Amino acid sequence: MLDKIKALKEEIEKISVSAKEDVEELRIKYISKKGLVGQLFNEFKDVPADLKKEVGQAINDLKDFAVNRINELKDNFEAAGQEQSGTDLTMPGDPIRLGSRHPLSVVKNEIIDIFTRLGFTIAEGPEIEDDWHVFSALNFPPEHPARDMQDTFFIEKNPDVLLRTHTSSVQVRVMEKTQPPIRAIFPGRVFRNEAISARSHCIFHQIEGLYVDENVSFADLKQTLLYFAREFFGEKSQIRLRPSYFPFTEPSAEMDVSCSICGGEGCNVCKYTGWLEILGCGMVDPNVLESCNIDSKKYTGFAFGMGIERITMLKYGIKDIRHFFENDVRFLKQFESAN
Ligand code: DAH
Repeated sequence: MLDKIKALKEEIEKISVSAKEDVEELRIKYISKKGLVGQLFNEFKDVPADLKKEVGQAINDLKDFAVNRINELKDNFEAAGQEQSGTDLTMPGDPIRLGSRHPLSVVKNEIIDIFTRLGFTIAEGPEIEDDWHVFSALNFPPEHPARDMQDTFFIEKNPDVLLRTHTSSVQVRVMEKTQPPIRAIFPGRVFRNEAISARSHCIFHQIEGLYVDENVSFADLKQTLLYFAREFFGEKSQIRLRPSYFPFTEPSAEMDVSCSICGGEGCNVCKYTGWLEILGCGMVDPNVLESCNIDSKKYTGFAFGMGIERITMLKYGIKDIRHFFENDVRFLKQFESAN
């Protein structure tokens, strides 16, 4: 009898099932009244008295074992079934994909960081401006082409209301309110009445810089911009300044940086010149200081302005400015790691 119990236990231990219905069959086969374990209780009456205690204990143990084993098989199936139907509340939820910062914001913040390290503060001004802040105070002569409807968005009813064409207008607002020393940058959105193409857009972004104090020189301008170029494009960067003209600076220059893509060797981004034009700059014209009630005999200053789209395109080799405004996630996703 004990051997029979032992054999049955081994048999139950080994059973495996492939469908939930099989578990019910096993229950009937082993632990129902007429099942294999159940029958042992019938046979128990024939066990000799001196073995009754031991055999009785073994049969009870076997029954417990069989019940546990069959419950365990049943539980396994139930857990698996829940997974398949997707209702297991203990499963982790579907991940919510995080967005990422727009490449223009990434670059803007990087530029802000660089100038903040040099002690520049940040100021902003209105996008809807007037003639004085965008043109007159900045020494634009009355017949300057930028004042033309072709280039600037005006409000028809009132030509003194316009969308700023550059962030240089914020220079004027800050100088009107503050006496030197002034050391600040002005990031913002600007508008120009231009046809949209791969190279130009009617809405884009600029960062303007201004430093006014006693004894500010062209050497200060050069060193500040060299520091910026090396921080932004890499420590091997070189800069060169070419004479230029802007109404609000005298002398004026345009700054090129050695091409960061080919290291100055020549490639299609720098059009095989080894140089990339990145900003306009110069010494603040005394007329501009005077327009803002700053004593041009006592103070001098430098200013610079750069396009954020342009710098971003050069840094990342982006060929079409329109990508920035389409917000196609396949484009934006590429800048996730720059965040
Ligand atoms: N405002 C100029 C533009 O939009 C950029 C510029 C050039 C800004 C020279 C300056 C500067 O401050 O000194 O094209």
